[in-house]
Amino acid sequence: MMPPVAADVLAMAAEQVIAAAQTAWPGAEVVPGPVTPSVTSYVQRLSVDGRDVYAKTSVCGVSLVSVLRGACGDLETVRARQAAYLVSPGSITAREAVQLRTLAGPARLGTVTLAGHARGVLFTEPVTGPTLTELIEAEPGRTRELLGLVVRDVAEGLARRGVAEAVQGASIRERGISGTFARKFNGLSGGLYLRQTGQGETLSTVVTRLRRARRVPSAPAGTVVFGDLKPEHAAFPVDGGRPVYLDPGLMRGNEVADTAKLVSRLVLGLVARGPAAAGVVLCGVDSFVRASARRLPAEQRSGWLRELVVLVLMDSLNILSTYLTAPADLPLSAHAAGVRDRARHVADLLDRATAPLAGTEDGATWWRLYLTRAREAAAA
Ligand SMILES: Nc1ncnc2c1ncn2[C@@H]1O[C@H](COP(=O)(O)OP(=O)(O)OP(=O)(O)O)[C@@H](O)[C@H]1O
Ligand SMILES: [Mg+2]
Repeated sequence: MMPPVAADVLAMAAEQVIAAAQTAWPGAEVVPGPVTPSVTSYVQRLSVDGRDVYAKTSVCGVSLVSVLRGACGDLETVRARQAAYLVSPGSITAREAVQLRTLAGPARLGTVTLAGHARGVLFTEPVTGPTLTELIEAEPGRTRELLGLVVRDVAEGLARRGVAEAVQGASIRERGISGTFARKFNGLSGGLYLRQTGQGETLSTVVTRLRRARRVPSAPAGTVVFGDLKPEHAAFPVDGGRPVYLDPGLMRGNEVADTAKLVSRLVLGLVARGPAAAGVVLCGVDSFVRASARRLPAEQRSGWLRELVVLVLMDSLNILSTYLTAPADLPLSAHAAGVRDRARHVADLLDRATAPLAGTEDGATWWRLYLTRAREAAAA
């Protein structure tokens, strides 16, 4: 079986988003614009009768990297499966449409405006203003405040009445950190996959240590979490209003998962770019995390920090391995390319932050050691 090449899969998706736009807006003039590099979905700007929209579709419900690695067969099989997937009511974009309505409705959160959903393609209106990543880069001294604002805003919104009910049946578990970790690294195929990262030896040790660390029971999955709360998924419109979120992966989970994803991706960004202000940002991250832990009853703090550290490390490993196994012909975002170029430092960070996990059960120690390693990796 020959896995499909990126150019063919991207061309197929490009045709499908145009066809979907013509279905959503019959008779409109649809002009394709730039494609946003993604390892997950196909995302492209379109102009529809002169109005800009973002179109997003998933190929066969798995990441683009998996499709290009042959997870859905050769090009012909991908085409056939995709034709069925696009019209399936449970497709990721169909669930994402429900989730955007939930965010704007019962959750009362700022969110990208849903412009339409047709034939498996989600259309949203462009959101403007800097993302959380860009704001922190511009004002590193505000890291703690900005993280606090986003995490509180999201948690309050998702706890509102009607949210859990609205998400039921439309949750996107595909973005969950521990589910993704289990899917990627379990069994024989997990070992083979790790070898293809070029950092197989280090990373398989990391996997083993994280599995052991996770034996400590974690809090029950009680609340609805955002699920894919990366710093580039929160935008701050320039009118000074509240944050606007995009790319939700709402599901029931432990609220610490949202903080974990933010921390993991923010730190990876620092390791990738090595900005002069990395130390300031990491101080802000540290102070935000400690303040969050302090807000809990004393007996829960250590467990919360343990779960946070394990999820941060799992998420970093999940995305590092995706970037490292992406075929060379798939265009990567600057962030992804940066992480891949600094893969050795990221793998070192994971190795050195997981080594001490077996030695103590104290969450505050796990967090302190992770942060020390993050500082070293960002400065390396
Ligand atoms: N409505 C929008 N307004 C502004 N930017 C958008 C919009 N929709 C998507 N984007 C941009 O495209 C990027 C990719 O879109 P999105 O995050 O929805 O797709 P994805 O494939 O799930 O991404 P990833 O897995 O990389 O998070 C976003 O991070 C954002 O930069
Ligand atoms: Mg995204």
